[in-house]
Amino acid sequence: MIELGVCYYPEQWPRELWERDARHMRELGLRVVRIGEFAWSRIEPRSGELCWDWLDQALDTLHRHELRVVLGTPTATPPKWLVDAHPDILALDEHGHARGFGSRRHYCFSSPQYRAQAARIVTLMAERYGSHEAVCAWQTDNEYGCHSTVLSYSAAARERFRAWLQQRYGTIEALNQAWGTVFWSQEYTDFAQVDPPAGTVTEANPSHRLDWRRFASDEVAEFNRMQVDILRRHSPGRDVLHNFMGFFTEFDHHRLARDLDVAAWDSYPLGATQNFFLDAHEKQRHAFTGHPDIPAFHHDLYRGMCQGRWWVMEQQPGPVNWAQWNPAPHPGMVRLWSWQALAHGAEVISYFRWRQAPYAQEQMHAGLQRPDGSDDLGALEVAQVARELDALREPLRAARQRRQAPVALVFDYASLWMADIQPQGRDYLALEACFRAYAALRQWGLDVDLLPPGAELQGYALVLLPAQLRGEAALAEALRRSGAQVLLGPRAGSKTEELHIPAGLAPGAFAELAGVQVQRVSSLPPGVELPLRLGDDGPTLRASRWCEQLALRGAQAQARFADGSAALTRKDDCWYLAAWLDQAGWLALIEHLAPAAGLGLQRLPEGLRISRVGELALALNFSDSPVRWEPPQGEATRLLGALELPPRGLSVWKLLPAASAH
Ligand code: GAL
Repeated sequence: MIELGVCYYPEQWPRELWERDARHMRELGLRVVRIGEFAWSRIEPRSGELCWDWLDQALDTLHRHELRVVLGTPTATPPKWLVDAHPDILALDEHGHARGFGSRRHYCFSSPQYRAQAARIVTLMAERYGSHEAVCAWQTDNEYGCHSTVLSYSAAARERFRAWLQQRYGTIEALNQAWGTVFWSQEYTDFAQVDPPAGTVTEANPSHRLDWRRFASDEVAEFNRMQVDILRRHSPGRDVLHNFMGFFTEFDHHRLARDLDVAAWDSYPLGATQNFFLDAHEKQRHAFTGHPDIPAFHHDLYRGMCQGRWWVMEQQPGPVNWAQWNPAPHPGMVRLWSWQALAHGAEVISYFRWRQAPYAQEQMHAGLQRPDGSDDLGALEVAQVARELDALREPLRAARQRRQAPVALVFDYASLWMADIQPQGRDYLALEACFRAYAALRQWGLDVDLLPPGAELQGYALVLLPAQLRGEAALAEALRRSGAQVLLGPRAGSKTEELHIPAGLAPGAFAELAGVQVQRVSSLPPGVELPLRLGDDGPTLRASRWCEQLALRGAQAQARFADGSAALTRKDDCWYLAAWLDQAGWLALIEHLAPAAGLGLQRLPEGLRISRVGELALALNFSDSPVRWEPPQGEATRLLGALELPPRGLSVWKLLPAASAH
């Protein structure tokens, strides 16, 4: 299916409104409604007292209006009576303080009591609604990890961590070896002595911290898996999904997504633009539209998870409440974001939320409707997208049987954790490195697949690994076999699986492939920049934040620092970059690599983005000025929009076969 949807909270509104709401959702062109994910206290107001009548009625109302329902399991919000009866279900922060009741996500993934309670409520819901005709999918919990809730320092987590370590290492000697505990007399003689890495005088052992994060990530996946198994048992034929977040890397999403049918994510482009690593100028420039590559980056990341099946479960409909600043999106943005998701292959785009709540924490967060029930701007734009989609659903569906993109970017959660644990320079941000590389590719008009390190890499013209700290022989082999031009970013292979420096120094597992050895690294304080010259007569770029000194072991220098040392090298098809580049640097580097990869580039005007899906090309104008665009070569028919795209405008083109081949 390719449909629009909305997140709805019937329990927050008088029943008299439900019928009218459902009718109006249909009128706007919405077809999917997510409900239930925070409703535990209404489903079970007291222990064992189950109130289904309201949920029965809500489902029946939506069903009567032919709305398909995604039912959320309510485990993100354990109710007060449950917390009071079992205070041990609360997560503990690293100082041992309980994360209290009164907001959400206060539970500990490792609590056996909470797992049992979660299994109980999920089973009850799945038994009751598993075969309800309206239910098309289930959402497990809500945004695992939101508000920094992956880690819990509870007694249960400590016990399970010890068991996890025992399972991983077998003997305590192996753990000592892996963590290098001889350093500072940290040696253990028994797994029962090992605690979570908290409360240490200075930083705890990095390998210990990495294993703690790996363990916590596995706990989230296991908790999710428990729910998935119950839902599959009682609700066959329905998709099970989870709504992941943007720029969130605290657990391994690739691992968790293996247990899902659909990877969904929650897209809040303006909030993300204000809250993440963009510089002040970028935050200003994109204040009302969001950085155009933030949604795209995540669309491509999540498309890489469940065999290409992904949704936007929550789409920003207007201003949100939780970012440092919350501008109202420019008119046209809700439509443009929706089309951007369609351009990247979404099955469903669902807006958060139907009506703005007049009370509680999110009363300043827009909905499609204002609190008084009148349609806000977002609703009108949704209606427009629905009409446009009706005309283009078939070509979009056909196009989604989509070809692989010409470029792959390898995204590895464990490498991001390693960089977090040992940044070495305060602003070495592995996630940002991936994003900058991605944004440069998109600004050159290239489509990108974001893939886990274990993915098949054959068929790509170019494979980028901007932050692959973790060296892995299997990945090196996959890169070698791929036939692609490969670019390894700084710090590639600089750590082993255990977070040690590899025996032959960095790039470790990639040393043979890259033909270099990293002999020294230097992180650079703000304002310290090193010029580097690309090729003999190429542009001069600026290295900031990080640089490395390389010894060449078969590679040739392709760019040099002012002292003549290599900043970019090449050995056969493998390039190694020894510096942190800013956005302009990545743009220049992609331009430099493209000829070797046989990639045709098209430098897009500021704010314009192009996506190719099968035989379709979509052009989206995020800028404040009109932009003219048509497919560069071959014949094409315009299915939507004009040659000149107004600000926030878009066009959809069908390419004839010659033009659609990469
Ligand atoms: C998401 C969350 C929603 C709501 C929304 C507000 O993180 O899943 O429940 O809080 O943000 O933008």
